[in-house]
Amino acid sequence: MLSTIALFSSSRRLGNTGQLLDRITSLLEVEVVDLTKLRMSSFDYEHRNRGDDFEPLMRRVLAHDQVIFATPIYWYAVNPAMKVFLDRISDFLELPELLAGGRGLRGKNAYVVCTSISDEPSPEFIGAFAETCVYLGMRLGGVAHANCEAGYLPAKHDPLAEAFAGVVRQAALPPGTAPA
Ligand SMILES: Cc1cc2nc3c(=O)[nH]c(=O)nc-3n(C[C@H](O)[C@H](O)[C@H](O)COP(=O)(O)O)c2cc1C
Repeated sequence: MLSTIALFSSSRRLGNTGQLLDRITSLLEVEVVDLTKLRMSSFDYEHRNRGDDFEPLMRRVLAHDQVIFATPIYWYAVNPAMKVFLDRISDFLELPELLAGGRGLRGKNAYVVCTSISDEPSPEFIGAFAETCVYLGMRLGGVAHANCEAGYLPAKHDPLAEAFAGVVRQAALPPGTAPA
């Protein structure tokens, strides 16, 4: 089985997205990181924030084959800590000493776990992840989305989580890609 890390970001740990992710990860061996608990500041063109928690986190990410991005949809976009993480990936593309690491994202599988109060995740939200994966050379392997208008309902949403866990468990890397 490929090694997987889940990056979680929501304004509440045990809310809808947290419950969906917890059901998924209870069926897998996954390292789960709560981005909201980390000291990670916004992207800085001068890179004056290099001492915060981003670079050690990114090295943990790079040590895995697959990355699950878990976030609620807030205004057609990701939760703020997830946005900071995504922005900070630019550090690994801009700083010469980090570039090899940034290129190390190529060939990894990416997944999106998200909740909203709509039947489908908004196209803008999914489009941003899809384009980001293309840019980074990652393969978007799947999306788990739950309409949580009435909250996280185990009877309704657990089967989705279980099917998604199966996709992550059975995934292979794209041809020609070496495991982390
Ligand atoms: C600030 C905010 C913005 C939201 N924006 C959207 C949205 O654009 N589309 C949508 O379908 N639901 C939206 N919602 C609903 C949440 O996506 C939904 O309640 C989600 O399940 C919350 O997950 P959580 O419990 O992990 O925070 C929004 C909720 C909040 C609090």
